[in-house]
This record gives sequence, C-alpha cells and structure tokens, in this order.
Amino acid sequence: MNDKRRKNMEELNKTLKSLIGAEGDWLANLANSSALLFQFLDNINWAGYYIWKNGELVLGPFQGKPACVRIRAGSGVCGTAYQKKESIVVENVHKFSGHIACDAASQSEIVIPVIVAGEVIAILDIDSPITGRFNEIDREYLEKFVEILIDETDFLPLTAKS
Ligand code: SME
Repeated sequence: MNDKRRKNMEELNKTLKSLIGAEGDWLANLANSSALLFQFLDNINWAGYYIWKNGELVLGPFQGKPACVRIRAGSGVCGTAYQKKESIVVENVHKFSGHIACDAASQSEIVIPVIVAGEVIAILDIDSPITGRFNEIDREYLEKFVEILIDETDFLPLTAKS
C-alpha cells in the first residue's frame, strides 16, 4: 500500500514538472499547481496556498470552497507551520488546538511551508474530509512538490528583498 502511495506521489511530482515546464510566473504556477493537487489526489476537499504579505498569511490561489482570507503567524495549522518553518501533518483537525475551520467537511490536513532564501514566502495547505488521510510519505513527496515549484518559479516578487 505504501509502494502504491509512493508511485502515485512520484507520478504527481512528474506531472507537476511537465505542467510547469519552463514557466516562471509565480501566480500562474501556484494556480496551476493547486488545480493539479485538487484533481490528482483522492479524498481532498481543499488545496491551495496562503501567501506571506505585510506580516500575515493572505489567501492565494486555491481549489475548493471559499476560505478564510487572513491567518496570523502562530495561528491555526498554517500559522504554526509558518512560525516553525516546518511541515505539519494533522491526523485529526479536531485535536489540533487552534485549528481554523474554513470548511466544516475537513477532518485532516497537511501543511508545507514554501521557503525561499530562508524566508517562508507561502504555505501549501491541503485538507481532506477523511481522518488520517495524510502520512509521512505524503509529507516527503509534497515537500519535493514544493521544491520543484521553487526550482522553476520566480518568487522574487514575494520576498521581502523585492
Ligand atoms: N485549517 C487551516 C486554515 C486554512 S483552511 O484549511 C483552507 C488552519 O488551521 O490554518
């Protein structure tokens, strides 16, 4: 079962590479990659990005139901991943203290920071209507997914130095 999951996630990352190609536009790549995640992964009800802007996370390109727009550092799963600069796998969102419920259907969640030149410039967030949907294999491959995105995309407009 884990082999199957690895194969599937490898396929996802290959598809991302060919989807992005040589495109460097950050908005286009975040939009298309969130659409890819939403179409490709099973048991998902939300996939998208929050972008770090003027001291808070602000809703970016996503697929799924409309979501909360602003999340403070340290708040919810996304704000915690921002602060810790690390991915978080939440088996059951109801047991995560401070979890922000955007879609009542969400039961589990995985959050991956997008780190460019040491700064978290965005957060990838994926929600599932099933408890325990995500595991360490997903974390490993979604971190690679974000690396592929970073390799090809010009994120300079989103960094503090721009
Ligand atoms: N659950 C997230 C909020 C974003 S929505 O899931 C799209 C959190 O606790 O940060």
